[in-house]
Amino acid sequence: MRKQFIKNIKGLVQVGEDLPNILRGQQMQQLPILEDAYLALEDNTVVDYGLMSDWPGITDWRDVEVIDATNCFVLPAFIDSHTHTVFAASREEEFVDRILGLTYEEIAAKGGGILNSARKLNDMSQEALFEAACSRIEKMIAAGTGALEIKSGYGLSVEGELKMLRVIAQLKAHFPIEIKATFLGAHALPQAYKENRVGYIDLLVNDILPQIAQENLADYIDVFCERNYFTCEEMSQILEAGAKYGLKPKVHVNQFSVLGGVPAAIQKEAISVDHLEELDQNDLDALAVSSTIATLLPGCSHFLSIPYGSARKLIDANAIVALASDFNPGSSPSYHLMHIMSLACIKMKMTPQEAINALTINAAAALELSESHGKIAFGRQSPLILTKAVPSLAYLAYAYTEDHIQRIFI
Ligand code: NIG
Ligand code: FE
Repeated sequence: MRKQFIKNIKGLVQVGEDLPNILRGQQMQQLPILEDAYLALEDNTVVDYGLMSDWPGITDWRDVEVIDATNCFVLPAFIDSHTHTVFAASREEEFVDRILGLTYEEIAAKGGGILNSARKLNDMSQEALFEAACSRIEKMIAAGTGALEIKSGYGLSVEGELKMLRVIAQLKAHFPIEIKATFLGAHALPQAYKENRVGYIDLLVNDILPQIAQENLADYIDVFCERNYFTCEEMSQILEAGAKYGLKPKVHVNQFSVLGGVPAAIQKEAISVDHLEELDQNDLDALAVSSTIATLLPGCSHFLSIPYGSARKLIDANAIVALASDFNPGSSPSYHLMHIMSLACIKMKMTPQEAINALTINAAAALELSESHGKIAFGRQSPLILTKAVPSLAYLAYAYTEDHIQRIFI
């Protein structure tokens, strides 16, 4: 058995026995911290924690790894509830096009964007995609990600979508962290179906979904509900088809425009509605009283220079807010959740406490991992972050280019 004893912890964050599984509105300000604390782990399971001053001592020190965390914080590893980590290649040529003046939507209209990624992915082997994703996930874990969701959506063909989801299944088996798979066949209309929307949706619903269900390849279903992509009606139809196979919705809505996707997704009992760079009063009112989580993706706003999600309005309206990276080659080529926390604080005026809650408790809820992830409590095996020596918790968000991570416990 591996025994670890972390002592002199400056702050043991998000710790306690009765922490809620979801935090909405003002509750997001609460962040329980034990100062000058210890934490004892056996095979990564929390067997004891408390104040150093209350520490009862250990009688048998044999085989115990003692870690001195003076001036360091311990917190639950962050949960990345929205990523596109399986992809064929980076797209920095589009990044340069945007610097030269084109918008993301203009690049997509020329056959770039998601369709560019789909062409490359369909040409790449499952093995090569798996290897590429593995090296990304290793870096994600080192950067503090303790669980993640990965979407399909760069296949846009029967074989391509199944290949992506099979890669995600391989990743689930390969890594010690929790990975959830989301079917995003409705990410864009593929070239071959440009004039045949109905045909493509029929392919998703009647050809791909049954196969996914048979191989048990997805946990969730997603649709990019957006002008030039999929309408609210199409989204509802696809979500209904997914529901027949037990796939709950987590959807892309309101990235560039308000189409009514938020209330439509809530109506379909979506676990989360993600993006929300655009938001109207109707959406706010709906999220204020819903258990659907509003997942904001500030990395995308930063990279595409589009508006940031209105975190303050959402929190003030009593919504449940989570944060995620949206890691993907087109709109957010970063998986760095510490940086997401900084962006949330700097650009969306979330407090560090709110941002940490949005990346732990609420993000765990956005992946239905509340029972195991996002907080530190007796008997839990939640992955943990040990920071380097820092002056305060807020410093993690403030010093936004420093590497704050000393060690990860998984
Ligand atoms: O979440 N908005 C849709 N999908 C991704 C971007 C995909 C891409 O550009 O490759 C997103 O931003
Ligand atoms: Fe996304």
